[in-house]
Amino acid sequence: MIKKCLFPAAGYGTRFLPATKAIPKEMLPIVNKPLLQYGVEEALSAGMNTMAIVTGRGKRAIEDHFDKSYELEHQLKKSGKEFFLTEIRDIIKSCTFSYTRQKEMLGLGHAILTGSTLVGDEPFAVLLADDLCDSDEKSVLSQMVEIFNKYNDCCIVAIEEVRKEDTNKYGVISGEEIEDDVYRVFDMVEKPDPKDAPSNLAIIGRYILIPEIFDVLKKTKAGKGGEIQITDALLSLSKNGKVIAYKFKGKRFDCGSVDGFVEATNYFYKRG
Ligand code: G1P
Repeated sequence: MIKKCLFPAAGYGTRFLPATKAIPKEMLPIVNKPLLQYGVEEALSAGMNTMAIVTGRGKRAIEDHFDKSYELEHQLKKSGKEFFLTEIRDIIKSCTFSYTRQKEMLGLGHAILTGSTLVGDEPFAVLLADDLCDSDEKSVLSQMVEIFNKYNDCCIVAIEEVRKEDTNKYGVISGEEIEDDVYRVFDMVEKPDPKDAPSNLAIIGRYILIPEIFDVLKKTKAGKGGEIQITDALLSLSKNGKVIAYKFKGKRFDCGSVDGFVEATNYFYKRG
């Protein structure tokens, strides 16, 4: 059983300045709900009840959001508007939150390694909140848990097809399709130039990782952009056949870009 979900949430959100000057980018709302809350709901839907969040300076709003606000409870009770709090209250009751701070921004791999003290020695999920996903049936993380349970002791990465000219925005895999939409990975490259990309199958911000990844990350040198990349650590595990890529069912919005953020806002507004 996978109980823990790690949320790297230390980045600056530069593309959303000035909005992200005093507000963590993970707290930007799509309609009326912060991105990170969508992520936590997805993890809960996949049976996880322990949320481990890697934060940084200026991110205290995240802790306050997932905590009781006595003043608000008190005020809303008096005005009969308590129902506005029902959803977030349920979340706070259903899971625990723990936090650690990434002191320097040395890449996604480094953020995940920073979270190792919160995760311990067990398989865990990683969810990047700015990749917002929606699906008609099971959530993307639930689908991935099913794949994880089927392929013993392997890491799972979620993938989708992107335009070849966009491969330089993602980790890109290649592998052998072992069943519909499931690939045994044998190569992966972080943000390759389209001409060097091994395929157009891009990793999106959902991973299930085995604890072995921490030992590999400790030895992983800085790669693309001078950062410690989770893609490079996974590449080394893929050499032992331990990485599976799964083409998920559903929609994904890149809320780290303004276009994707606006698209997600319209979509979730219409969906209600
Ligand atoms: C990270 C990963 C990349 C992955 C992407 C998904 O990149 O390094 O491999 O494809 O997330 O969103 P970032 O978008 O943080 O630069």
